[in-house]
Amino acid sequence: MPHRNPDTAPPRPPLPKLQQIPPAIAAVADYEPYARERVEEGAWAYLDGGAADERTLAENRDGFRRLMLRGRVLRDLSGGDTRVALFGHVYDYPILLAPVAFQKLFHPDGERATMLAASAMRAGMVVSTQASVGLEVLAREAAVAPWFQLYIQPDRAFTRDLVQRAEAAGYRALVVTVDAPVNGVRNREQRAGFAMPCGIEAVNLRGMRPPPPGGGQAGAPVLLGTPMLDAAPTWADLDRLRRQTRLPLLLKGIMTAEDAELAIAHGADGIIVSNHGGRALDPQPATIAVLPEIASAVAGRVPLLLDGGIRRGSDVFAALALGASAVLVGRPYVHGLAAAGPVGVTHVLHLLRAELEVAMALTGCRDLAAIGPAAIRA
Ligand code: FNR
Ligand code: LAC
Repeated sequence: MPHRNPDTAPPRPPLPKLQQIPPAIAAVADYEPYARERVEEGAWAYLDGGAADERTLAENRDGFRRLMLRGRVLRDLSGGDTRVALFGHVYDYPILLAPVAFQKLFHPDGERATMLAASAMRAGMVVSTQASVGLEVLAREAAVAPWFQLYIQPDRAFTRDLVQRAEAAGYRALVVTVDAPVNGVRNREQRAGFAMPCGIEAVNLRGMRPPPPGGGQAGAPVLLGTPMLDAAPTWADLDRLRRQTRLPLLLKGIMTAEDAELAIAHGADGIIVSNHGGRALDPQPATIAVLPEIASAVAGRVPLLLDGGIRRGSDVFAALALGASAVLVGRPYVHGLAAAGPVGVTHVLHLLRAELEVAMALTGCRDLAAIGPAAIRA
């Protein structure tokens, strides 16, 4: 991965946001170069990078590239739609905005700009624990009740309060992210010299004292044996959470059938197959590659969602065909946000939805129930 040496190259100032969408932006991937020129280089490394050698990050894309669809003709498409019911709400289409932290890195209004787009498009949005805008503000501005992504904090009383705040604010579900008790190996950020700018912080975590870090002295514990990992969440925390809230609980970051089974045994109402967009454990397979084994273990007991590497409506289609009820996208909408603000996010959602509908029409699927493994070429 080529990188700028921050000691020798001058920083490049970000360009202003696009005021209109140029015709050259015809697909979600077209947003990426426009976004890159419109964020600080360190923030770009944070957004674009994956952990370590970025093999998981690459696999997520390659997993979709390896799949081919089976076109079908002359089937009746009348009266079709893309609706999906999840946790008591009917979404117009099965594409949600994944939790992405610190969105003020990408747009001055941060998550509020994203929420405006989600509301315009009546899309579900998952708000990060590490959002740079308060969870209550976002819930107030949402046209569709959002979901709250929870990182279980070292201080469990603080965690319980956070859950109660999300419940009181009207969030519809809790997405407990379980695949990142520590950050993955963040080489790209380090090489770019990324540091969180002043004025951008995880406002929902104000008052939460982080445990002292390890690794200070040679020979001292690095992670294992430090207060941070001693306080890392376990299945017992999930049991406690189950008793503390009536909101549906989804576990985000499941990559094996064993953990899917445990999630259900511990009361999860939904599972998100995710490798954190390649930002946590590296190397791992593509999420789309492990989806079939997890779908067969879950066997329809709870809704299964997937994220990681979705850049086309045909990727959404493939995930649904292999057992997902809905998908989430991360970087694609942040590219829209960074390039063109709420209009960019709106356009990204529209493009994905429109492409999904094209894939449905050309495979002869009039609704989501008609999409199954038979639509994928083995
Ligand atoms: C994330 N992701 C993430 N996940 C989470 O549970 N809580 C979080 O705060 C964040 N923050 C975050 C920041 C950034 C910059 C990125 C790119 C990702 C992971 C995210 O929810 C999702 O799993 C992936 O982004 C999906 O992969 P794609 O769509 O980016 O390929
Ligand atoms: C990330 C953390 C915030 O992926 O989840 O950057």
